[in-house]
Order: sequence, then structure tokens, then C-alpha cells
Amino acid sequence: MLRRALLAVSHSAAIRKGITSAPVTRDVVERYVAGDRTEDALAVAARLVGAGLSVTVDHLGEDTLDRAQADAVVGAYAALLAGLTDAGLAKDCEVSVKLTALGLALGADGRAIALENALRICAAAREAGTTVTIDMEDHTTTDVTLEVVAELRRDFADTGAVVQAYLVRTEADCRDLAAAGSRVRLCKGAYNEPSSVAFTDRHEVDRSYVRCLRVLIEGAGKPLIATHDPTLIDIATALLARARRAPDSYEFQMLYGIRPAEQQRLANAGHPMRVYLPYGTDWYGYLVRRLAERPANLTFFARSLVSR
Ligand code: FDA
Repeated sequence: MLRRALLAVSHSAAIRKGITSAPVTRDVVERYVAGDRTEDALAVAARLVGAGLSVTVDHLGEDTLDRAQADAVVGAYAALLAGLTDAGLAKDCEVSVKLTALGLALGADGRAIALENALRICAAAREAGTTVTIDMEDHTTTDVTLEVVAELRRDFADTGAVVQAYLVRTEADCRDLAAAGSRVRLCKGAYNEPSSVAFTDRHEVDRSYVRCLRVLIEGAGKPLIATHDPTLIDIATALLARARRAPDSYEFQMLYGIRPAEQQRLANAGHPMRVYLPYGTDWYGYLVRRLAERPANLTFFARSLVSR
């Protein structure tokens, strides 16, 4: 209930102003975000890689309103990829990209603009010796995002896709995507979706996640298992063992700042563990989704607002 309510009101300008201007917000942001600058992302990435983890770096932003802004996002990824190369981190660090940040919502030309910009980032990633994963956004963008990923994969076969277990369609999408050479990140899904397209009961979402896991783990591609849920991690570990999956044929993935001890435990146990590391100034949408995921975060946030 709380999750839906927060995601629903998060588009209000007043709520945005309230959250972004609250002094306590900075503390909460720092838990989930590397910092404002490329150098901040590089410093945190170096620390994570030093601890035996790999990283996917996300330049925050999803409300690109014109071509110049989309170009600036491409420029930010180019600078990030150059920075990763210079720091000797590109082998262990890839990038995650949102198509809306690249111009997907820019009217009739949006799809073509986003594709062209994604191709530029894929080329820069290849130059750096690393890969790109295209994040998944709300369900109105699922078809176009999967189409763009398929087009990117013609030239850049290692481009990763993301699917969301809360969508009813996703088990079928997993069957389509689980082919040799694919990289598919399976997450629960973080947006406010209607019951016409999504499971709304969390147990149903978990059951869907397990069905999708089976398809991906028994398939020929590389499953990227993105969850912090202890039960799902146990199930995934058992399914990986049963399928005799070698460590280079899958990854666990978690968000920066969430269950870091578990991230380290999985890495120490020999599982490839990749951390999703966001950075940049446009953190509002990302922060709201993290607050909405966990009622305890919201309570903590609300209490801090009142007690200041
Ligand atoms: P669940 O929400 O049930 O959480 C399980 C446990 O994890 C909780 O009990 C708690 O201990 C901990 N936890 C989870 N969230 C927390 C939080 N915010 N703060 C503190 N503790 C928390 N979504 C999407 O729609 N599109 C995308 O492209 C991506 N990409 C992506 C990449 C990666 C690497 C990850 C890990 C996740 C995503 N997501 C995403 C987000 C995903 O859809 C989902 O919202 C979150 O991962 C939370 O779901 P869990 O599977 O962790 O389960």
C-alpha cells in the first residue's frame, strides 16, 4: 500500500520539492548513490572491485526533455567509460543505461534517437573492453526497450536486457531471451504497475520470479540474478548447482548500499557478484523507488524529517 502510494504521488512537484530539499535527504541519498561526479563513481567502483566485486555503473537521469540533454547523457557515459579505462577498472565495470535518459520519450523520433544514442554508448563500451545493459522502465516501455535491445545486439551481441518478474508477460519474455550469447538481468520490478499487466501480490511476484529463474538458468544465455531477497537467492543457488552452471555463466547482482554484507558473502563463496552503482545529481526517481521498496526506509525518512 505504502509503496504504491509513494510511487503514485512521486510525480507531484510539491512532493519532489519536499523530498529533494529536506536536509536529511542527503544522508539517505548517500546510502544508495556514489556521489554527484564521475570521480565519485570511479572511487566507489575501485573500492568495490578491490573487495572482489564487479560493478555496473548507472549515470542517473530518466526525464530527458530534448536532444541536447540526451547528447549530454551520452557524453557523460563516454567520460565515465574513459575514466574506467584510465583507472584500469573497465574489465570489472560495465554500464547500465535507461532509454528514457537517451531520448526515448522525445515524441515520434524518440525511439530512433534513443537507439542512435545507445549505439554510441555501446561503441564506447566496446572500445573500453566492457559491456552495456539496458535497464527496464515502466510497462509502457517494455516492448520498445526489448526491440531496441534486439537491434543493439545485432552489432553488440553482449548487450544485456532486463526483465521484471512482476509483469505477467515476463516468463514468456524469458523464454524468448534465454538463447545462447544473451545476458538477461532478472529483477522483481520497481514501478507502479496496474493489475491489468502486473502481479500485485508480493507472493505472486516471488512465484513468478522463481518461474523466470528456472527458464533463464535452464536456458543457454547468462542469467543475471538481481535480487536482495534471501529466499530467492537460496533458490537460485540451488537451481544453479542443479544445472551445473560454472561461475562464469551467471551473476548475482545487487544495488549499492543494500545488503552489502550479503554481497561480500556471495563473492567470498565464489559466486560472481555485481553491484549496481548509480551516480549523478538527478537521483530523485531512483531514491523514491528505493524508499518505496521498504516501509522501514520510509519510516526512518519520515521520522528524521520530523525530528529536525
Ligand atoms: P524485496 O524488495 O522483496 O527485498 C528483499 C530484501 O532486500 C528486503 O527484505 C530488504 O532486506 C532488502 N531490500 C530491498 N530493497 C531495499 C531497500 N531499498 N533498502 C533497504 N533494503 C532493501 N527494477 C526495474 O524495474 N528495472 C531495472 O532495470 C532494475 N534494475 C536493477 C538492477 C539490479 C542490479 C537490482 C538488484 C535491482 C534492479 N531493479 C530494477 C530493482 C528491482 O526491480 C527491485 O525493485 C529491487 O531489487 C528490490 O527487490 P528485491 O528483489 O531485492 O526484493
